[in-house]
Amino acid sequence: MFPLQRNRRLRVNESIRSLVRETTLSPSDFMFPMFIAEGENYKVEIPSMPGIFRRSIDLTVEEVKELFTLGIRAVNIYVKVDESLKDNTGKEAWNPNGLMQRAIKAIKTACPEMIVMPDVALDPYSIYGHDGIIENGDIANDATNEALVKMAVSHAQAGADFVAPSDMMDGRVLRLRQGLDAAGFPNVGIMSYSAKYASAFYGPFRDALDSAPREADVVVPKDKKTYQMDYANRIEAIKEALMDVEEGADMVMVKPGIAYLDIVREVKNAVNVPVTVFHVSGEYAMIKAASERGWLDHDKIMMEQLMCIKRAGASLISTYFAKEAAILLNKK
Ligand code: PBG
Repeated sequence: MFPLQRNRRLRVNESIRSLVRETTLSPSDFMFPMFIAEGENYKVEIPSMPGIFRRSIDLTVEEVKELFTLGIRAVNIYVKVDESLKDNTGKEAWNPNGLMQRAIKAIKTACPEMIVMPDVALDPYSIYGHDGIIENGDIANDATNEALVKMAVSHAQAGADFVAPSDMMDGRVLRLRQGLDAAGFPNVGIMSYSAKYASAFYGPFRDALDSAPREADVVVPKDKKTYQMDYANRIEAIKEALMDVEEGADMVMVKPGIAYLDIVREVKNAVNVPVTVFHVSGEYAMIKAASERGWLDHDKIMMEQLMCIKRAGASLISTYFAKEAAILLNKK
């Protein structure tokens, strides 16, 4: 075909490149994960996540308003629970006056159009740092599901738009759907962490919430491999996503992001619901660390990774870069 076909014609300058660009990014592609703590006017940076803070509810609300003006339309929220409130049942997770429930209410009151997606999993509330209730040395699947239903209903009562189960118990999407419907919340959606891998990329997140699996008085699994997926597996991710859609998930998620883009594309091709990708804490930390040393160009790497996640098939990207990327996109 050469020289009739010269592919470089479509790359001659930025104008022609912009005409033929197959993928675009905009602030509404992003969801911003936020860490909430008790207190007032409290804001502390997470050492392994420069630029990311634990904030009290009042400062969270201020930040959410700013995110909205930047074009961001969704936040995932996580809470840092006081040690004295942790146990093996996770019961603080459905306290109607708990930190999460107060945070949801405050955000929805101040910024009603922001989509609020609280995390549904017991790890921030568990004395063992696990996503479920420990019985006989393992996570009790079905008992955990019933706890998650109570938790999700309390989030809906506080005003959540969606609930986002990140626990990886079997059958929890169906139980959450049934539970929300029975409680009178048919319009509260479920964004399921469907293909969530047991990944070392979650390290900085566990620092942020003090939620890593820990030594205990009873036998507990030392990691999350009995519920999160083995990163050697691909077909299993499709099975997980298809089952969650069948159980009633409105959106599915693949997590982590960059190292898992093959999975993102396969899941995207297999399901007929939006696919979310979580660009997780460790991915954020790597870019921050390398660019602090001057080894990588921060903004360029950030935009390249976000664009590649979108190109792989993400409808939404949950990313700690949401605000910085939105500011950059709005400048153009
Ligand atoms: C726990 C949860 C984790 C993340 C989101 N929800 C960590 C884990 O499974 O241990 C990780 C997010 C990130 O690393 O940014 N339910």
